[in-house]
Amino acid sequence: MIRGMIKLLPQPKFFTPSLTMVICVPSGSTEVELRAVRDSAEHAGGREIYLIYEPMAAALGIGIDVEAPQGNMIVDIGGGTTEIAVISLGGIVTNKSIRIAGDDLTLDIQEHMRRQHNIKVGEIMAERIKIGVGSALAELETPPDDFIVQGPSISTALPLEVPVSYQEIAHALERSVAKIEAAVMSALEQTPPELYADIVNNGIYLTGGGALLRGLDKRLTDKIHIPFHIAENPLHSVAIGTGIALKNRNRGLPYLLR
Ligand SMILES: Nc1ncnc2c1ncn2[C@@H]1O[C@H](COP(=O)(O)OP(=O)(O)OP(=O)(O)O)[C@@H](O)[C@H]1O
Ligand SMILES: [Mg+2]
Repeated sequence: MIRGMIKLLPQPKFFTPSLTMVICVPSGSTEVELRAVRDSAEHAGGREIYLIYEPMAAALGIGIDVEAPQGNMIVDIGGGTTEIAVISLGGIVTNKSIRIAGDDLTLDIQEHMRRQHNIKVGEIMAERIKIGVGSALAELETPPDDFIVQGPSISTALPLEVPVSYQEIAHALERSVAKIEAAVMSALEQTPPELYADIVNNGIYLTGGGALLRGLDKRLTDKIHIPFHIAENPLHSVAIGTGIALKNRNRGLPYLLR
């Protein structure tokens, strides 16, 4: 994959470029995994290689001053994992990762459509339903229009068409969303008290594609009594932050792993 990405760059004709790379890695990575990423980067032609933990990159991408003597909490809901981290003084203070995230919500929708409507939907259709009418709350102030789902009947294989409402999908997603909610609560419990007050004041930042789920910010805010802010660009904050780290790599950044 790294080689493939290098191929996307404009290639110099007469010499092999010496490549500088910043690669983001999940914050739960083991030493062996970090070593493996580094080795792969070297094999792909990297000369100067830095690693950065994803929640740190996300925080940079959101525009948080990660080196401040302050606590900030980031909740990154991706496809495969939800990562919750508290960042302060350029380091990750606490970190929690659970394997419940966007892909599980998509699966919940597939399962719901099969059980409730006897209709077979693939992953792509289920993701479209999630983006169209996915919701973390059964009551939204600005509800989306119903989504017309098309697919084959499980019993007869004949084409079916069913409208689904966001309320119905909110119900189907409830269990997984509750698990994400519980993980955030448990991460807060593990937060050192001296940083807790900062987090209450600054609010908690939601990022990753899952942050776009309707009503999730409101649901968490109401439940936890701390304001949740959705990142400006949830799908890209990790990439943006990694770019910022690359630009500033010569400044002795404490969070860049050499
Ligand atoms: N509008 C939306 N509403 C709900 N979910 C969405 C929306 N847009 C994208 N997603 C979901 O966000 C997820 C992808 O998010 P993201 O790109 O942050 O993940 P990732 O970084 O690739 O995964 P991971 O961090 O687990 O490695 C997918 O599950 C996708 O369905
Ligand atoms: Mg991610």
